Amino acid sequence: MTGGEIVAFDPTRRRNARAIVDAVALGWLRPSDLVLDLTHKTGRFWREWRPDPAAGGRLVRSDLDSSGELWAGGHLDMVADALDLPDVWRRRADVTVWDPPYKENGSGGSCAEDDGYGVADRWVPRRGLLAAGVVSAVSWTRSGGVVLVKCQDQTAGRFHPQTTFATVAAELAGAAPIGVLHVAGTTRPQPADGRAQRSPRNRTSALMAFRVSGRRRVDVDPWGVAVTVERHGLRGLLGSLPRRWEPPSLFASEGERNADG
Ligand SMILES: C[S@@+](CC[C@H](N)C(=O)[O-])C[C@H]1O[C@@H](n2cnc3c(N)ncnc32)[C@H](O)[C@@H]1O
Repeated sequence: MTGGEIVAFDPTRRRNARAIVDAVALGWLRPSDLVLDLTHKTGRFWREWRPDPAAGGRLVRSDLDSSGELWAGGHLDMVADALDLPDVWRRRADVTVWDPPYKENGSGGSCAEDDGYGVADRWVPRRGLLAAGVVSAVSWTRSGGVVLVKCQDQTAGRFHPQTTFATVAAELAGAAPIGVLHVAGTTRPQPADGRAQRSPRNRTSALMAFRVSGRRRVDVDPWGVAVTVERHGLRGLLGSLPRRWEPPSLFASEGERNADG
């Protein structure tokens, strides 16, 4: 924070838990909220702030927990695939949080974060899960509620604009972006194989916030989104968006002027 003002990039914001505190200050989260954390893991997000049961708030800790360790360790209230929650969750949460494994590559444990993000020593496709989870998170959230998504624009072989994927997926499902809080971090050096650097290294990740609209789409299948995105990338996702209007031609008026003489 600078002089009481929350800024999108604050170099002292180095933890997700701090971004959550700032999200509260911005009104994206409130003590009385029913907060559904789809990817709770051990709950590092909630180390500094949690919804307040005394105010009617509740944090529901959910995760896929493929190894069963999180449940065994008492970290969860629910074991579930974020794309396939029980139907009672439809349009239920005030705030839904989606922090999927988003790092696209790893270097065999040379980075402490890799283990935390389940990253293998190779390129791992993440964009389908990211986009499908955003669509699902919107469906678990009440109209007017908020979806918080954690991801990172990053280079792995080529540039992966994950924040764009998240925004387009949210728009597809009927949620509009309301802001982003960047979390400062570190990145390891590129492999020393003599290749020239072609894109800037990104030392931040993004906690993105979306407001769910009352005019959401209910027919978006998250698995369909995952497959489309893995196969066709952003173009596949854009192809799924309803065509509500045709952009006016930039040259139409010029043509008219020319026709006039
Ligand atoms: C980056 S970690 C989340 C860290 C967590 N936000 C924290 O503060 O500790 C990603 C989590 O996503 C979970 N995950 C991966 N795919 C999932 C899915 N389809 N549904 C639910 N959780 C999933 C993993 O089990 C892992 O715990």
